[in-house]
Amino acid sequence: MSWIWSRTLLAVIVAIVMVPIVAGGWQLLLPGLRDQPTTQAPTPEQRIVLPDPRERGDVALEEVLARRRSVRNFTAEPLTLDRVGQLLWAAQGITAPWRGLRTAPSAGATFPLEVDVVVGEGAVAGIAAGVYRYVPAGHRLEARATGDRREALAAAALGQPWISDAPITVVISADTARTTARYGERGHRYVFMEAGHAGQNLLLQAEALGLGSVPIGAFRDTQVAAILELPREEVPLYLLPVGQPAR
Ligand SMILES: Cc1cc2nc3c(=O)[nH]c(=O)nc-3n(C[C@H](O)[C@H](O)[C@H](O)COP(=O)(O)O)c2cc1C
Repeated sequence: MSWIWSRTLLAVIVAIVMVPIVAGGWQLLLPGLRDQPTTQAPTPEQRIVLPDPRERGDVALEEVLARRRSVRNFTAEPLTLDRVGQLLWAAQGITAPWRGLRTAPSAGATFPLEVDVVVGEGAVAGIAAGVYRYVPAGHRLEARATGDRREALAAAALGQPWISDAPITVVISADTARTTARYGERGHRYVFMEAGHAGQNLLLQAEALGLGSVPIGAFRDTQVAAILELPREEVPLYLLPVGQPAR
């Protein structure tokens, strides 16, 4: 190959790599970092940096598996921000920062899931009642909506009272197109599988912390989406109320 052709080829390769980076599209090259909410950028007051998650616990995984049971009776005891952060990390926390990989596996690392937490009045020490989105990159929360929405959420879940009793409910939603764009129709089943992985991680983490939870699949999708003010492309898949079990 002549030197002119070699230089032209080199210039084309450099352009292909550099243009998306310079244009700010570099996040597209790292699917794990494509988890910013699509709503308006939050102000600094709306951001809550969570305490660092623990990667070492007090109880063996086997014990947690043996003990986990669905819990539907909760005390009104508030949760600490530390514990809320640990639960969210278990569901979708980043465990390989450079590649953006998470606690739960994801088909082709397409990461279709979004995790929100519905917080009741006085339910989490240090934060107001409202709806917060978990942002895995940065392990933080971003406020999305204000007010105690637990009663409305319980009504949308066919009146299941454990949702209004629990201090928080974690909601796992999906933007399925992120996965079907790569896998077509088959992506639908992958997204459901991923919600199961993330949900089970959270259930096990709750048990390990001495908390209780129950996975909820029975709810009206459109009502839950409205209560959470979800972006149009996101569908709620799983509700997980968490609290101190009432003995
Ligand atoms: C996909 C799915 C949906 C569920 N939906 C509900 C629900 O809407 N309400 C509820 O109280 N429990 C719900 N559950 C919890 C089951 O009732 C519970 O897991 C089952 O009775 C077994 O008990 P265990 O979780 O203690 O092992 C659901 C569980 C799964 C896996």
